[in-house]
Amino acid sequence: MASLFSVSRVGILVLLIFVLLAAAAISSDASRGQKLKKTEMSFYMHDWETPTKEENVTNIIIAGKPKTKWYILTFGSLFAYDDAITTTIDRKSTELGRAHGIYVNTALDGSDLHILVSFVFTNKAYNGSTIEIQGADRLLQPTREVSVVSGTGKFRLARGWASIETVFLDIPQSNAILRWNLTVFHY
Ligand SMILES: *[C@@H]1O[C@H](CO)[C@@H](O)[C@H](O)[C@H]1NC(C)=O
Ligand SMILES: *[C@@H]1O[C@H](CO)[C@@H](O)[C@H](O)[C@H]1NC(C)=O
Ligand SMILES: *[C@@H]1O[C@H](CO)[C@@H](O)[C@H](O)[C@H]1NC(C)=O
Repeated sequence: MASLFSVSRVGILVLLIFVLLAAAAISSDASRGQKLKKTEMSFYMHDWETPTKEENVTNIIIAGKPKTKWYILTFGSLFAYDDAITTTIDRKSTELGRAHGIYVNTALDGSDLHILVSFVFTNKAYNGSTIEIQGADRLLQPTREVSVVSGTGKFRLARGWASIETVFLDIPQSNAILRWNLTVFHY
């Protein structure tokens, strides 16, 4: 058994070289990615449950509490959406991409939506890149903050935050426009 634990000098040397090479590889990788970039952006998200002359339905309720009318302010209501994101509040302004996501009312008193969104960009600057959002969207507050948890393409390893403000709300029709301000750190 003793021979199993006896390591030759050559073996130690080989091991040492391997460790040094690995360390060099790791440090060069780290220095390449050292510079974190900061990107700030603002856009408007058009969330439409009832069609109007200018807008089609982009958000549907897909599940809810059994034996009740499904509604955004009811605990358990689950929505899927594919909302346009545009540069200004005007729906006809430049479309930057789409907000693909779900939200589910996760507060017993109905005051909070757990929100998950992928912003999928199609504009020239970020075409094909995505930003991932997760957080507590306490929709009764005029402004609230959620997390930027990751991203792809230009936004790989993204971290940051986003503030949301409801700038248009039609409660009977369940239509809304949200303004998003994002601060994103990425490589
Ligand atoms: C609504 O849907 C119609 C038919 O698919 C389409 O032509 C139109 O561009 C859509 N409007 C918006 C604002 O997306
Ligand atoms: C975005 O990329 C797609 C696929 O590569 C391409 O067809 C499209 O023209 C690009 N859009 C812009 C605005 O560059
Ligand atoms: C977003 O940014 C604009 C311009 O700086 C500002 O007026 C607005 O209050 C911000 N919204 C939120 C929710 O922080």
